[in-house]
Order: sequence, then C-alpha cells, then structure tokens
Amino acid sequence: MADHLLKGEDEVKHLINPHVQQVKLSPIRLYSQRLMAFEDGINLTIGQPDFLTPDHIKDAGKRAIDENHTAYTHTAGIPELRKAASEYMSTKYNLTYNWKDEVLVTTGATQALDIVLRSILVEGSEVILPSPVYLGYLPLIQICGAVPVFVDTTENDFKMTAERIEEKITDKTRCVILSYPSNPAGSVLSKKELEQIGEVLQGKEIFIVSDEIYSELNYEEEHSSIASIPALRNQCAVINGLSKSHAMTGWRIGLLFAPSYLIEEAYKVQVYNTACASTISQHAALEALTNGLDDPIAMKKEYRKRRDFVFSRLSEIGFDVVKPKGAFYIFPSIEKFDMTSTQFADRLLEEEHVAVVPGNAFSGAGDCYIRISFATSLEILEAGLNRIEKFIGRLTQEQSTQRKAVQQ
Ligand SMILES: Cc1ncc(COP(=O)(O)O)c(C=O)c1O
Repeated sequence: MADHLLKGEDEVKHLINPHVQQVKLSPIRLYSQRLMAFEDGINLTIGQPDFLTPDHIKDAGKRAIDENHTAYTHTAGIPELRKAASEYMSTKYNLTYNWKDEVLVTTGATQALDIVLRSILVEGSEVILPSPVYLGYLPLIQICGAVPVFVDTTENDFKMTAERIEEKITDKTRCVILSYPSNPAGSVLSKKELEQIGEVLQGKEIFIVSDEIYSELNYEEEHSSIASIPALRNQCAVINGLSKSHAMTGWRIGLLFAPSYLIEEAYKVQVYNTACASTISQHAALEALTNGLDDPIAMKKEYRKRRDFVFSRLSEIGFDVVKPKGAFYIFPSIEKFDMTSTQFADRLLEEEHVAVVPGNAFSGAGDCYIRISFATSLEILEAGLNRIEKFIGRLTQEQSTQRKAVQQ
C-alpha cells in the first residue's frame, strides 16, 4: 500500500499536460524587475497606457458597486453593454453584429483570444500568424496542441501579405491570425491589403481571427476591419476591448464579435471558464462605450507626438527603424551592432539602466530588434533615448576598435 503513496511532487510532474509544459513565460516582466535594482532606472518596456482611466468611467464603476451590481451577469455580458458594443462597431468600423447572439463580453482581449482559439483549434491544427508578433498568441495555440506557422514579415514593414499567407496554407490550416495595429512594430494593414488577403482566404475552410485591440490608435488612416468585407464575415472573429483605447487594462474588459454559430460555441467555453466578466467593470465599460466615445482622441494625439519624437531621435542616433503607424511601440533594428536582442537589452540595462524588450520575445524573426514602448511621458522618453545614444556611441567605438585590431 505504502508503495502507492507519492513521496514528492516531482513524481507526478511528468503527468502535467505537455502542451502546458511547452509554454514559456514572457521575459518582459523580467526586465522591469531587474531594472528595480537601479534607482535611476528608465522603463521603456511598458505595454499599457500611462494615462489614467477617465474619471466618468471610474465614477460609473463606483456607482455600480453602490447600486449593488455585484452579482453574476449573463455569461455573454449585460445586454446594455452588448448593445453599446455592437453599435460602436457599427458606427466606427462598419461592422454589423447582432448584440443578442454575436457579441461576447470577455475578461480582456486575452480571454476573447483564448476562448475563440479553443473553440476552433484541435490537436495538429495549423495557425498562420505574422512574426514578429504579440507574444500572447503562441501559448494559446500551444495549449490547444495546435501548430504555429509563422510568416516572417521583417522584409515587408512587419506586415503579412496575401501571397505569403497563401504559400503557408496546407490541408491542416484552420486559422489565420491578423493583428493590427500591431504589437511590437505598430504596423497597420490597409483596406487594400485586407482585401488582397481576403481574396486568398475567402471561401476556404479557414477562420480569420483579427485582433484589433489597438484599432483606436491608428495614426495615419481610418482603421478598417477585415470582417467588414461581406464575403469574409462568416469566417471572421474580431477581437477588441477597452484596455488600450480607454486606458482600462486593469478593468479586464474585452469583446469578441463573430457570427452566431461561432459565438454559440465560444459561449460554452466561457461559461465553464469564467462565468462572466467582472460585473463592476462591465458597468464601467458601458459608460466608456456610451459617453466616452471621444476619450481616445486626446490620448491618441499625445501618443502620435511621442511616436514622431521617438522615431526621429532613433533615426538621428543611427537606427534602421520603420515608423509605426499605430499602437504605442516602435521596433528598431539592432542588426548592425552584431549582437542578439537579449545581449543588447542586457547590456543596455546594466550599463545605462534602461529597460527595453528584446525582440526575440516576439518570436524568432524579432531577434534583430528591440521593442521600445512610448506609453510613457516625453520627458522619460527623452532621457531614455539620450542614454541609448550614449550606449550606441560606446558600441560603435568598440566595433571600430575591434575592426582595427583585426586589420592589424
Ligand atoms: C495585440 C494585443 N492583443 C491583446 C492584448 C491583451 O489585451 P487585454 O489586456 O485586453 O487582455 C494585448 C496586450 O498587450 C496586445 O498587445
């Protein structure tokens, strides 16, 4: 009998789901944590707005508590919020989703991604996605036992093209993930590019999961959603939410829009996964989507100013860098410094006390880049870039000394 007793936790460790064991944790937090060792540290890793949630939204959250909106809601979300979300998508992006059976309110965009991917992927399904890419997709794909198929976008301003997607399609392809404006490079797919991608995918038994969480932070053009192309609507799921547009990351409200046959299945996953998004946050989100439609405007103006500043400073310092068209990240190349992105980020942290994210955090094709977030004030960005300039000066000096030594 005693033989059957476990002696230590390691004895059953091998029974843990291998798909979960395969998942690696993101290094982003690691850099912020290491930065804490330095009193004068400058953190350029932050992936959330530095603005505060607007007061009227916070008040709606407080009111929700006072009015005892503290019980479970319908799993899909309170009807008023689903209606407001559906109207929002219609007026802003020309998308028509019936609030009754085509909208789910989720716990952040993260949960919307999780439930939609778990609804459509099975063991061995292939998922086409860009590389470099937001680091949240790969673990969700891996947990489903599905297989990521990356499209290297570094030669095309970090955008997938219809052609490159077509090359990757096989019998096992179940899903293409689009993500724009993008994290980490701020790339944006134009209406024309979406139409071209649509031509390839239209009529194929492939879902399109379109993560449009940064749709309100598009600096150059009106955001267009791939699901607004009528022929594609039936195979699209659109992810959005309030985290970035309304500086509400901690409220955890995301939105999933899809045809009713898909929502019906995703709904089941959500029922047993979370029951419903936070009731208090749903009331705050309702305020955001009714009286706060213009809230993102001032934030966007400020981000654009910072984007212009960071882009011109990085170019001046000598980086090869693509100007981001949306979101609040910039992704300069470090190729010419002959280091991996981890080596670059480590030295920058140790020597200048500036934290950035090494590009390899965003999959293999990102390894010649670093990600700088401009979701921080102009003063901090200016100080950070001055230090980066000093660091690059030192690297260039070292490179030229090494070159001379080799020549001698
Ligand atoms: C592209 C992208 N999608 C989704 C998310 C997650 O959003 P949420 O905080 O609403 O879960 C992020 C967060 O950084 C992101 O960059």
